Amino acid sequence: MRNARATQLLFELARPGRRSAQLPACDVPEVPLDDLLPAEALSPAPPPLPELSEPELVRHFTNLSTQNMSVDTHFYPLGSCTMKYNPKRNERLASLPGMIDLHPYQPSATLQGLLELLDGLQQMLAEIAGLPAVSLQPAAGAQGELTSLLIAAAHFRTLGQKRTKVLTPDSAHGTNPASAAMAGFDTVQVKSTPAGFVEMEDLAAKLDDSVAVFMITNPNTLGMFDRQIGEIAKRVHDLGGLLYLDGANMNAILGITRPGDFGADMMHFNPHKTFSGPHGGGGPGAGPIAVSEALAPYLPVPVIVRDGDRYELEYDRPQSIGRVRSFFGNVGVLVRSYCYLRTHGPEGLRRVSENAVLNANYLLSKVKHIFPVPQGDRCMHEFVASGARLKSDRGVSAMDVAKRLLDYGFHAPTVYFPPIVREAMMIEPTETETKETLDAFAETLFRITEEPPDLLCEAPHTTSISRPDEVRAARQPVMSWRAE
Ligand SMILES: Cc1ncc(COP(=O)(O)O)c(C=O)c1O
Repeated sequence: MRNARATQLLFELARPGRRSAQLPACDVPEVPLDDLLPAEALSPAPPPLPELSEPELVRHFTNLSTQNMSVDTHFYPLGSCTMKYNPKRNERLASLPGMIDLHPYQPSATLQGLLELLDGLQQMLAEIAGLPAVSLQPAAGAQGELTSLLIAAAHFRTLGQKRTKVLTPDSAHGTNPASAAMAGFDTVQVKSTPAGFVEMEDLAAKLDDSVAVFMITNPNTLGMFDRQIGEIAKRVHDLGGLLYLDGANMNAILGITRPGDFGADMMHFNPHKTFSGPHGGGGPGAGPIAVSEALAPYLPVPVIVRDGDRYELEYDRPQSIGRVRSFFGNVGVLVRSYCYLRTHGPEGLRRVSENAVLNANYLLSKVKHIFPVPQGDRCMHEFVASGARLKSDRGVSAMDVAKRLLDYGFHAPTVYFPPIVREAMMIEPTETETKETLDAFAETLFRITEEPPDLLCEAPHTTSISRPDEVRAARQPVMSWRAE
């Protein structure tokens, strides 16, 4: 539903003949289009594009941008997504002419600065992962998973072992089983305990020598660090399998512990969550992976190699799984990550994680009296609070609370996930927020719980769109336009 503040569509604003640009009359002979293109490639009529003046166009997009909630305008505690503030400096550095004017088809002799930067990024990621070999190519965390699983498959092929299964905890992000299926494995779910940890008996029951990989996110989606990880790694390795660490929650452990040190053989990073990559809009993304020495030969090509003070792109890697992405990956995102890591340095990165965990625990301690946290009084970078009591006492759901927060200028937390918590609200404040913001958010949550349920059930009241049918919006996007 749209209210009065909603912006009209460009097609509603358009009037035939209006223009944003006025070009001088053509002073060269016109060339008919069908002289340039085969007839079958030509559309019978021009596309019905909206016709508007420049101010209308500028106002339209500026107004739309002000209706959006972003991390640059609002507190955005969307659990699992790590919506921390990205320093603007990194945007500026990634936009320097020496970066954006490069072309991937340039000979590598003319790309030495960029290759040095990417090599430096690989080294820093290897250090953070505690794993020696890195590929920057995957274009998203999910593609990092797929790439790693293809590497695992190649590794077991080389060993002559037929391993058909990938285990994932029942709390795993949907991309984990999806990547496993895409890489040709059967996926098997391992149960979690009520606290969200791997149920070791179930793991023992499902782990055998047909298992190629156990994929785990640690800290997990409930914001808890599974301390059994060393034992899990041992059990997987004892049977010849590999341990995969989904690094989506690395923001909680930078410089504190390293996946390679707690037994992971491979992992991906999500730079858009951890290292100031841009969020949203479908990209641009990146999902670098780090792997153990034994798996390094299978990394995708090209691999950046250093020969003295020269950098080269090496393609001749007989055991490589091949290409997973054109050129060298999404370089713009990788440059931002490099800048972020260099700016912080090891000490700064550790402080990032310590503050992310501190902020989450501070907020947890402030809200738990009204929104209990079933997993306990301590968390890592995020926690999952339950609105079940509010629902049973006053009929107000987690969704109502989430929607009402928008009226107060806060982005909603993630709701109803993970399903293990009733009326779940997954809150991740991140390290970039002040105490005042966290206090204001907690006070607003309390205020909302005292408001009349009728008001809440119809919230939000101040946004352009109130309660869209989210499932329908996702499944039936409007793909039509109104031609004059
Ligand atoms: C736990 C977890 N794993 C994997 C992914 C997939 O990462 P990407 O969105 O970069 O593909 C996400 C993304 O949000 C995630 O939260």
